[in-house]
Amino acid sequence: MRYATRMSRCGTETAFEVLARAQALERQGKEVVHLQIGEPDFDTPRHIRQAAAKALEEGWTHYGPSPGLMELREAIAEYVARTRGTRVAPDEVVVTAGGKPIMFFAMMALLDEGDEVIYPNPGFPIYESVIELLGARAVPLPLREERDFAFDADELERLVTARTKLLIVNSPQNPTGGVLDKATLDRVAEIARRHDFYILSDEIYSRIIYEGEPRSLSSYPGLEGRVILLDGFSKTYAMTGWRLGYGVMEPVLAKHVARLQTNSNSCTNSLVQRAGVAALRGPQGEVDAMVAEFRRRRDAIVAGLNRLPGVTCRLPKGAFYVFPNITRTGMRSQELADAMLAEAGVAALSGTAFGAHGEGYLRLSYANSLPNIEKALRKMGDFLAARARA
Ligand SMILES: Cc1ncc(COP(=O)(O)O)c(C=O)c1O
Repeated sequence: MRYATRMSRCGTETAFEVLARAQALERQGKEVVHLQIGEPDFDTPRHIRQAAAKALEEGWTHYGPSPGLMELREAIAEYVARTRGTRVAPDEVVVTAGGKPIMFFAMMALLDEGDEVIYPNPGFPIYESVIELLGARAVPLPLREERDFAFDADELERLVTARTKLLIVNSPQNPTGGVLDKATLDRVAEIARRHDFYILSDEIYSRIIYEGEPRSLSSYPGLEGRVILLDGFSKTYAMTGWRLGYGVMEPVLAKHVARLQTNSNSCTNSLVQRAGVAALRGPQGEVDAMVAEFRRRRDAIVAGLNRLPGVTCRLPKGAFYVFPNITRTGMRSQELADAMLAEAGVAALSGTAFGAHGEGYLRLSYANSLPNIEKALRKMGDFLAARARA
């Protein structure tokens, strides 16, 4: 069988592969602490689960409109208007099975072969994968540890060419936990206006922020029609397995994206969308409690990592990841991640799973209990001390 050549350009997400390896070790009776997964360890709040059960009883079991149920699109439009301080109409909203399809559909609708897309590196691996799958050119924008994992706006501007069609921005960021400050976003907005390109603003972690207010490029004057906002329910409401997310974009692009949905999965699960309405319009206390718990874990894991030999770690401002610098362990990122899983029973990801600029780092998710985080730190400490002695 000969497969399409484009498949050689299609990447993946290493987290799923590491999970499979960790589970294989567990089947052999080994203990593994899971710090590789990018999902809240909390249950979906009860009122959201109950809304889904009610929707099932009420018969929300049929196809719905491709862009999403009108009531959910209205709820999203209100929510985005409230949280970003912009005006949003329901015909600018497309509901998808998680936030991820917005990357795929929006880039499919925007990019021609040879168009250039500037994207954060280290960054969510699916950006680069989709850019290359579509035959566009992936232009990495390095994130710098010394800037708390923000990029340098001058460096961004130097990467812009006449072929730049899209810039991808992710704040709060996976894998570094970095949050872009107002000065950087101001510069990004000004550069996008001047050079006339689109921005995909991935704000999936917008509610998981520990310092300051979340800022969105979608609320910048002069960027109207240029910003595709990606957000969803997976991280905010601990709903990763439900698959529910959305994009907000100018109405013509929204129509193209909905048409791509018609061509692929037709529409998003109807009863899950009903649960989404309950999530946005219902009480938000559990989200706040979850973020408070993440903050405690963040403080514990950062303090613990900074005590390990050869490891230094900055305090991230958002999301639920840390991105410690491991260069002084003397090991490469992949080598250390592999050895930590096999020898110490700690599953983490190599920084290079997020692009070449992730060399020298690991990504650990602290969406795990404090006792498990403490256990992982002990295991890592013993492992690194033994290595140092060897
Ligand atoms: C930066 C970023 N964007 C988008 C997503 C996709 O989220 P969803 O599960 O809603 O598709 C993730 C998930 O890990 C992510 O880290």
